[in-house]
Formats: sequence, structure tokens, C-alpha cells
Amino acid sequence: MNFLRKKDSSVPIPAPGTEFSIEKSAEIPVLPDFARKSDIDVKYPLIKPYSYAHIHWDEEEKEVVYELIEPPISQKERDILESLEKGLEELINISFINIKEESAVISYLEKNSKVLLSELGLKLPKDIFMKLMYYIYRDFVGLNLIESLMHDQHIEDIECNGVNTPLYIVHRKYRNLKTNILFSENEKLMSFVEKLAQKCGKYISYANPILDGRLPDKSRVNATYTQDISSGGPTFTIRIFTTEPWSPIKLIDVKTASPELLAYLWMLIEYESNIMIIGGTGTGKTSFLNSIAFFMPPQARIVSIEDTHELNLLHTNWLPSVSREATGVGGSNNLGEVSLFTLLKASFRQRPDYVIVGEIRGQEAYILFQGAASGHPTISTMHAEDVETMIRRLETPPINLPPSLVETIDAVCVMSQSKIYGNEVRRLKNITEIIRVSSTSLEKNTPFVWDPKTDRFFFKKESHIFKKLQTEYGMTGEQIQKEFERRTLLLWQMYKRGISGYREVHEIISAYYKTPSEVLKKFNIK
Ligand SMILES: Nc1ncnc2c1ncn2[C@@H]1O[C@H](COP(=O)(O)OP(=O)(O)OP(=O)(O)O)[C@@H](O)[C@H]1O
Ligand SMILES: [Mg+2]
Repeated sequence: MNFLRKKDSSVPIPAPGTEFSIEKSAEIPVLPDFARKSDIDVKYPLIKPYSYAHIHWDEEEKEVVYELIEPPISQKERDILESLEKGLEELINISFINIKEESAVISYLEKNSKVLLSELGLKLPKDIFMKLMYYIYRDFVGLNLIESLMHDQHIEDIECNGVNTPLYIVHRKYRNLKTNILFSENEKLMSFVEKLAQKCGKYISYANPILDGRLPDKSRVNATYTQDISSGGPTFTIRIFTTEPWSPIKLIDVKTASPELLAYLWMLIEYESNIMIIGGTGTGKTSFLNSIAFFMPPQARIVSIEDTHELNLLHTNWLPSVSREATGVGGSNNLGEVSLFTLLKASFRQRPDYVIVGEIRGQEAYILFQGAASGHPTISTMHAEDVETMIRRLETPPINLPPSLVETIDAVCVMSQSKIYGNEVRRLKNITEIIRVSSTSLEKNTPFVWDPKTDRFFFKKESHIFKKLQTEYGMTGEQIQKEFERRTLLLWQMYKRGISGYREVHEIISAYYKTPSEVLKKFNIK
């Protein structure tokens, strides 16, 4: 299995005899900061050279808007496009849409468009033909009105709340923005939601009106089909998948965590601690999990279990698995279901060095913590605002863990989303070490906290786990402290030198596991 395969960053070569191609650039444009919202005015390409994003202050609306710019098209060109699209629909065997090789589909569409044009007795200048091909690509291969948005690596979410209301996006830099895109007819929106379902390999209908799936590029889709469950009509939300996972250095870059805090987690992971990442919806739990998984030794056998495939690791001995829903009619029986519970039970038989569970919700927790108690280090996420809520959720139905198993958690990372100077930021709010859990009490230690006033992280107290490592691994307090400091400096140096790409960072961490002295020398660390 090749886990390294990414979206192609090179300019694709069109198939022989084909002129149109789509450039999928992995390059993410760097966007400037603006002192005032009303100064915001940036434009960057989405599908070069056809579509662009123009983000700017709208004086009338008194807000920043996201304007999608597509090639202008005259009425005459629109009529030709319509005839072509109708003709193509008649020609096309719908199953071709699932052909994996996109360039083969584009070439098929282009050849047939040319045949149709000659049947219509039309000869178009090349630039006009290419423009029409952009629209044909968008509507047949892509996701119609929002296809260009799917190419914007700055977008986190695309939200459609119904018919005749503009789509909103969540932009990584400029946050919630209204777009100039909207579905004006209920039927078009319904058939778009059907298309989303089809692309996720799922089925949506009146009888089965809720979609929870994943597009081929791994973006997550939630949609509703009918008006009775969402008043505005069909709706959808797409969370765009970032093509590159965030390295720990990227977390320092966006100030989600500090080098010290990450060095601490690195130590914990190397010395086989159990880590839980908690926080509210969308606070960055899964991204954080993926980032700190960089700290697992390069040769470790890692088993990961998720409901939807989000994790992206470079470890060569990684066995990812994804649970599967029942395929029985309407999900009414368990035929074909492979639950997290089943997967996790199987995973412990695969002799893992580390077990990762994407998100804990139910009975699988029991297996996970039993595994943790028998010496398999684990990292997992859970939806809970704070440590107390997490423990309550673990100890009550449907999870029902006894306190002795909850106690196998060594450290809890609490993620939060807050506002600083009007900007939404994601921060690791604190790290809490779990010392003892009984049915009536919780003994904990909080070595790291984030201070919202100064936007800084503080190492507040001694680590209880570092003390535990002394007895378990026969190290002295000084040795642990020295190693912790070295790793802090190494992460800091990587950050200062601008080394944040996930491959580079993975390589340096791997090298540190093999020959630490060489890596330290390279970074001038004593
Ligand atoms: N540290 C961060 N800084 C800024 N944006 C982030 C950060 N971490 C994650 N994001 C972005 O926030 C969005 C949500 O991230 P993620 O899926 O990791 O959150 P989550 O807590 O796991 O969400 P959910 O509760 O839906 O599982 C993604 O678009 C991601 O790219
Ligand atoms: Mg998540």
C-alpha cells in the first residue's frame, strides 16, 4: 500500500490528442494579514487559469466576502455549452464518472465535445473551447458550482443551508465568509446532494435522507435531502481535507502548541504513555493527534482505527483501518458491519506497538483501555470539553468503564477554540496528567497551561509522568530533564529554520531516533 501518494503537484500532461487539462497545484498561496477588515483584498487562483478566489470587503454588505470568479460567458456561449452538456449526457454511460483516472475522463469528454461541435457545424476559437471545457469539467467530473472551492486549500468548510441562500465558507485566515454562490432551485440542490452521495459511494433518498460520507479526496460530507428534516430544504456541509498533514512544527507556527509542550509529548510517546486528546467539535483534535503521531518511533508497528479515514502518517509499519456501516436495507440489520469494537479487538491481535483510535464514542473504549492496561500505548480523541466531563462520559453508559481502566490514561491534551483580538484561534489549553481515579475522586496534575491573556504556554508544575519514568525505565531525573531540554531545543531550531513540511519533519524525528548525536550536531545543540 502506498500511503505517500498525494494529490499530484505537477502540471498534468493531457492525454494524447487532448488539449484541456486541470492543474492541481499543491502550492498553497501565502495570504497577508490586514490591520482592518475593510482593507482585505486578495485574489488567488483556484483552477488555473480559469477560476479565482477574490476575498474582499463589501462596502454595501459591510462584511468581507468570498467571490468566486469563473470565466465570463456570453449568452451565445452559454447556449452552446447547454447543447454540449445535453449531448454529452445522452452520449455518456454514467458509470464513466467513477473512472479513477481523471485525465481519461477529461479526454473522453473533450473528444466527444469536439464530435458534438462538428455535428452542430460549429468551429470555436481555442480559448473559447477551453473555457467551455472548464465548465464541462466542472459539471461532469467535478462538483459543479463548488468545484473550484474544492481546490482552495485555505477553505476548511463549505456550508449550504438550503435553497436560495448564499453558501458560506470557513476560511483558514479570514474565517466565516459569505460567497457569491447559491442554488436557486430546489431540484438542482437535491440532485447536487444526490451527486455528493454518489461520489461518497452512498445513497440518499426520501427514505434515507441523511448523508454522512467521504468524497474520493477524503473531504467529509454531511447532507440532508428533504425539507422535513431541515426547513430550508436540502443542505450540505463539506469539510475540505488538507492534502498535507500538519507537522508538530506547523503547530508551533500557528501557536497551537509550544516546542516545550511538544517535546514533553514526544517523551511521553517514546516511553509508551497513554494519551487522550479532548475538546469540542472542530477544535482540532484529529489534526493534533496526527501531528503528535509524528513522534512515534519510525519502525513502530502502528494500528489505527477510525470511522472515517482522516489520519495520514509516514510510518512504513502503519496498518490503518476504517470501520464500515451495515449494508443491510436501510441499515436495519448488521449485515456487513465492521464496527470500531470489532476492529479494535482484531487490532490487538496484530501485536501493535501503538494503537490509535480516531474518536472514542462507545463500547470500543473498553477494549482500548484494556489494551492500554496490558501495556499497549494508545492515543485517541474524544469529544469532551474538559477532563471531568471526559471521565464522567467514560464512566457512565454507554461506555461504563471502571475507574481502574480510566486511570490507564496518563495525559489528557485539552484542545480549545478561542478568540484573540477578534481572530478565531486553536490552542492546546492545557495538558493534565491523571494520577488516580476512584469512583468518588480524581487526582490530577496539570504541568502545562496556556494563558489566554498573553497567548503563551507555561510549564507550571513538575511532571508526575516524568517521575514515573524514572522508576519504570531506570533513568535519573537529570537524564530525563536533559533529554526533554534537548528535544525542546531541537523542535525550536526546526521552527526557527522554517522546517515545517511533514516529510522533512518526519525524517528529522526518525533520524533522531537512530542517531540523536548527529541530529543534535547538525542543529548546533549541545
Ligand atoms: N491548530 C490548528 N490551527 C488552525 N486550524 C486548525 C488547527 N487544527 C485543525 N485545524 C483546522 O480545523 C478544522 C477542524 O480540525 P479537526 O478535524 O482536526 O478537528 P476535530 O476536533 O477533530 O473535529 P471533529 O470534532 O469534527 O472531529 C480543520 O479544517 C483543520 O484543518
Ligand atoms: Mg476529529
